[in-house]
Amino acid sequence: MGFYKTIRSVVRFRSIELDRAARRLRTAADIGDLRRIAKRRLPAGVFDYIDGGAEDERTLVRNSEAFGRIEFRPNVLVDVSAIDTSTTLFGAQASMPVMLAPTGFTRIAQSQGELAVARAAERAGVPYSLSTMGTRSIEEVAAVSDGVKWFQVYTWKDRGLVKDLVARAAAAGFHGLWLTVDTAVLGRRERDHRRGLTLPPQLGLDTIVDGALHPAWLLDFVSNEPIRFANIVGRDDDGRDPIDIGRHASEQFDQSLSWRDVEWLQSIWDGPLMLKGIQTVADAERAVSLGVQGVGLSNHGGRQLDDAPAPIELVEPVAQALQGRATIVVDGGIRRGSDVVKAIALGADACSIGRAYLYGLGAAGEPGVDHVLRLLRSGIERTMALTGRTSLAEIDRDLVRWR
Ligand code: FNR
Repeated sequence: MGFYKTIRSVVRFRSIELDRAARRLRTAADIGDLRRIAKRRLPAGVFDYIDGGAEDERTLVRNSEAFGRIEFRPNVLVDVSAIDTSTTLFGAQASMPVMLAPTGFTRIAQSQGELAVARAAERAGVPYSLSTMGTRSIEEVAAVSDGVKWFQVYTWKDRGLVKDLVARAAAAGFHGLWLTVDTAVLGRRERDHRRGLTLPPQLGLDTIVDGALHPAWLLDFVSNEPIRFANIVGRDDDGRDPIDIGRHASEQFDQSLSWRDVEWLQSIWDGPLMLKGIQTVADAERAVSLGVQGVGLSNHGGRQLDDAPAPIELVEPVAQALQGRATIVVDGGIRRGSDVVKAIALGADACSIGRAYLYGLGAAGEPGVDHVLRLLRSGIERTMALTGRTSLAEIDRDLVRWR
């Protein structure tokens, strides 16, 4: 009898979760877990396209590792019963200092692609960014989200096309523009090279075998409309034929892009402009001297120049140089709410995230992206509570030190 009573008091079965995505998410404790689930569910070439970086991937690794070299100096015995993570970014409210960075070809992770990510961002109250190389169009994204939206510009040699995209973004109510400045040519992503990746992925024998080993992805891929570069449909390079992205970028993107073009973009766009891919104090100052409102400290998630500096290491020197003259957004390697708090402490206004949400999308579709944003929010709140900070304004330089 005693035995039975003891067993009954300790055995608790978890309720059975019938929804498959929810079941996968229930045990995903952090973004690393979502990465592992995505790796299991996506064909290897697709996962590597998302996960990989340039050349020896040293910058990719350092982007994240740099956060481990920052230590908190927590204050205790502070009343943290009410914590406010909200902020204002470029005149728009955000529920936390996080933006979703533009990622090309998002539908490769899951067929809803950019629509799923934009909806999740709106639910979480944070800005979403659509890439020029998006697989859902400016108009499609605007139709599903009234949230704050940014459009990311790659400068094609065909400036008429760029002008047209910018006008469409304005007409669709996009709030701001990122101009990506770290992609004069495409970085050499050697995982893609080894796998012979094209976009869209070609269904050759190897893809079919790989796809067969990942049936949920394959079914989703083949039962939805073909993946296209949705913003440029009608052009020869809209993705109806698979392209080698490296060759495509060097043929179509303008290697002569320079500071003069920043002024040109300002002349055709009224809203806030942010340069994405600034990697020195001098370039940050130059951007601000042209009246650019935002400086995006980024190395494209380690996908462009290997041995580029980890963006988190640039935050403090750039913040000191700019003295509040522009909004500073940093990305690269952000995987936890505590990373966001560290960036704010060093002087950033917000962080943006790329792979984190793609892992969520690949792991469980739209609910996976919701899960990523929940993890980040709870991580920011928990870190604030444990360090004695109740608002972003209280997250000051004293909170952190480099180890
Ligand atoms: C990107 N990134 C990117 N940036 C950009 O300006 N235009 C783009 O089309 C893309 N595409 C893209 C695809 C994929 C699969 C990834 C992972 C990244 C870079 C992105 O906006 C951001 O700078 C990084 O992703 C930030 O680093 P983390 O968060 O991925 O570590």
